Amino acid sequence: MTRQATANTREDNTDERPPQTARPHNTKEVTMTNVTIIGAGNIGSAVAGIAAKAGAAVQIINRDLEKARAAAPDGATVAAYGEPITGDIVVLALPYPALADVAERYADQLDGKVVVDPSNPIDFSTFDSVVPAEYASGAAEFAAKVPGAQVVKAFNTDFAAVLASGQTDGAPTTVLVAGDHDAANQAVINLVNAAGLRGVNVLGGLKRAKELEAMGSLQIILAVTEATPWTGGFKIVK
Ligand SMILES: NC(=O)c1ccc[n+]([C@@H]2O[C@H](COP(=O)([O-])OP(=O)(O)OC[C@H]3O[C@@H](n4cnc5c(N)ncnc54)[C@H](OP(=O)(O)O)[C@@H]3O)[C@@H](O)[C@H]2O)c1
Repeated sequence: MTRQATANTREDNTDERPPQTARPHNTKEVTMTNVTIIGAGNIGSAVAGIAAKAGAAVQIINRDLEKARAAAPDGATVAAYGEPITGDIVVLALPYPALADVAERYADQLDGKVVVDPSNPIDFSTFDSVVPAEYASGAAEFAAKVPGAQVVKAFNTDFAAVLASGQTDGAPTTVLVAGDHDAANQAVINLVNAAGLRGVNVLGGLKRAKELEAMGSLQIILAVTEATPWTGGFKIVK
């Protein structure tokens, strides 16, 4: 865990701010955080926006540099896929199959970093999981390939629209976070809280990625079958 990613430990998931508040209230605390996002599609753009709102320095890495530039918030840097990672928190905003290539290409650079996996590893024709049977989740499979990284499952239970807006039906969008490293989980929670969303630590460690991936899959099924909108999601009612 680097100094930047651990710099802010005050926030936690018991945040009591009024539900309508989207304004970052601890931006100052995460100013030192550097976030690299690999991928510049729906989730890459949305998470880049969250990181920028939180006051983090943002790097976007993508195969297509034009798409990286289009997704980049003001002040962000862009780099081609394969170029060095500058962030301490690295978000893999890529389709699940691409994670294997990231593990090969970037394994050394991911050592000691907080690596966030937002993927939903499903077959879109059956909506079944495509994770090999020996792994509980896609995140667990990826973590086994990058043992030096602190892998965190997060963002997969939220559609890009509610991550980008920061709001789900009038409440701050809830970002469920699961991982084996408390400080890494907290770094992600601090980042999303600073952007006005609500990070919630799912106790149980990375093992819980299995449930988060099932939840992400269920949400996709509901949207594909038009039971719920792609702009919707769940919110916590107190
Ligand atoms: N969309 C959602 O609402 C949502 C919600 C929760 C979780 N997720 C998960 O988030 C991840 C990203 O989804 P998305 O909707 O952002 O996808 P997307 O819009 O299709 O963007 C995918 C990005 O991944 C890059 N990419 C694709 N294959 C690659 C490869 N083999 N190597 C390197 N880069 C590759 C693409 O690069 P190019 O630009 O060069 O093509 C693009 O920037 C997925 O795992 C998805 O399951 C999505």
